Amino acid sequence: MPMHTVRTTPIDGQKPGTSGLRKKTAVFRRPHFLENYVQAIFDGIGGVAGKTLVIGGDGRFFNDAATQIILRMASANGAAKCIVGQGGILSTPAASHLIRLRKADGGLILSASHNPGGPDADFGLKYNGPNGGPASEAVTDKIYERTKTLDLYNICAADDVDLGTVGAQSLADMAVEIVDPVADYADLMQTIVDFDKIRDLFSSGFTMCFDAMHAVTGPYAHAILEGMLGAPKGSVINGTPSPDFGKGHPDPNPIWAKELMDKMYAADAPDFGAASDGDGDRNMIVGRGAYVTPSDSLALLTAQAHLAPGYSAGLAGVARSMPTSRAVDRVAESLGIACFETPTGWKFFGNLLDAGKVTLCGEESAGTGSDHVREKDGLWAVLLWLNILAETKKSVSALMADLWAAHGRCYYSRLDFEDVDSARASTMIDGLRARLPDLGGTTVGALTVKTADEFAYLDPVDGATSAGQGIRIVFEGGARAVFRLSGTGTQGATIRLYLEQLETDPDRLQDDPERVLTDVREAALALSDLTAITGRDTPDVIT
Ligand code: G1P
Ligand code: ZN
Repeated sequence: MPMHTVRTTPIDGQKPGTSGLRKKTAVFRRPHFLENYVQAIFDGIGGVAGKTLVIGGDGRFFNDAATQIILRMASANGAAKCIVGQGGILSTPAASHLIRLRKADGGLILSASHNPGGPDADFGLKYNGPNGGPASEAVTDKIYERTKTLDLYNICAADDVDLGTVGAQSLADMAVEIVDPVADYADLMQTIVDFDKIRDLFSSGFTMCFDAMHAVTGPYAHAILEGMLGAPKGSVINGTPSPDFGKGHPDPNPIWAKELMDKMYAADAPDFGAASDGDGDRNMIVGRGAYVTPSDSLALLTAQAHLAPGYSAGLAGVARSMPTSRAVDRVAESLGIACFETPTGWKFFGNLLDAGKVTLCGEESAGTGSDHVREKDGLWAVLLWLNILAETKKSVSALMADLWAAHGRCYYSRLDFEDVDSARASTMIDGLRARLPDLGGTTVGALTVKTADEFAYLDPVDGATSAGQGIRIVFEGGARAVFRLSGTGTQGATIRLYLEQLETDPDRLQDDPERVLTDVREAALALSDLTAITGRDTPDVIT
């Protein structure tokens, strides 16, 4: 088979985060761009000669063509084997599982997560290591450095691999195994949650709506929820992955999953609703007329996980990102287990999971996960919820009411100010940072500041420190405001303001969150001078 070494020019691919490199699809399709980035990954991880890689993506536009290029390059670089999801499809958690199950040397995941897909939208590629989790910063740094100098890549001239047929093939000297993307993941889920109990729940007439948002969880949800668990046909909506996600925005929140929200707030709403994102790692949970914030979902799962066989021995500990509400802290305390507060982003959970310090973890941005993989996992969260619903025979709103009665309710909301002038956003954050030492005791409107600081993290596993991870202002009476600049926004700066108010009065657990959060919102805006500095008074997105 002819193998070519192609001369090229460096792409300076930008420093990839743990979510890999995300770019406009058109950029990835520029001559040699994808090839250069793939070669930079291969070189950055010390070559792929003799290695086994898992390859799959979320099915967005360019997924299949990119998969063929990656396979030809893996072969030309001497890889021993590639394990590929049929049709080039693997959800991010399923890819993480497959890497671990098959003891592969790593994997390439083709996805831009919840970003829209299509020729004019976004594409992405990330490398996960042998533990199934996103590459460490040391590795992503090496990959990035390589993009700046790389001027050759290796590729075979070969026919396309038949991605549609499960089984063994070869590409020059490299073995290619096409696998059912769902089967191993479904097996794993059966070791964690009680499929019989959930089957009984559905046969008793329980109804649900799972919105796959035209993205990768469609085949998983059809096979597991409708196929194995007996949810009525039609329980999964938007379940066929499409290259442009039905022209939608596959981000499971009340704004983008409006179709699901409308169903769940209608008179004939099903008992349970859920959605997942483009690559299947995020989740949204909603009961009949009852949206569950991701922070509350993490707290509920922590409180009730023992009802599922996978967690019957209890949890080692839990972790949440700093801006995530403190609801889970209260549950962890009552269970007598550790609760770790980490910076935003999934990579900080990986160390804690690998070290066995935590079993569950989650973020306010709709990510929940456990030690079964090294990514957040949307469908897993849905199945764990179903297991809990089946065991308790309570509605979502009754479960939440019980949780709040026992631990208090952390009313919570996130306000995003998007595409803010970067200099102004920095001015605001810098100004706030400078005033932090003087804020204690300050009264703003109805609230008085108790403590104010900038979050820094000392990783208890590897001792690494991460400073500048968001400004926290805690008020007397259980309110908290957090300010952060987004690390994933693409236009200008995105300011995220996270608001929280703890309420323990039993008569005030069912209030309107917007009303409850008014005081802390006004105090946060006043203390930061956000409106005067950025010219913004209304957020672009409220979740
Ligand atoms: C956002 C979320 C964060 C998540 C990340 C990757 O990052 O807030 O929780 O881990 O996307 O999915 P941000 O844009 O806030 O830096
Ligand atoms: Zn995602």
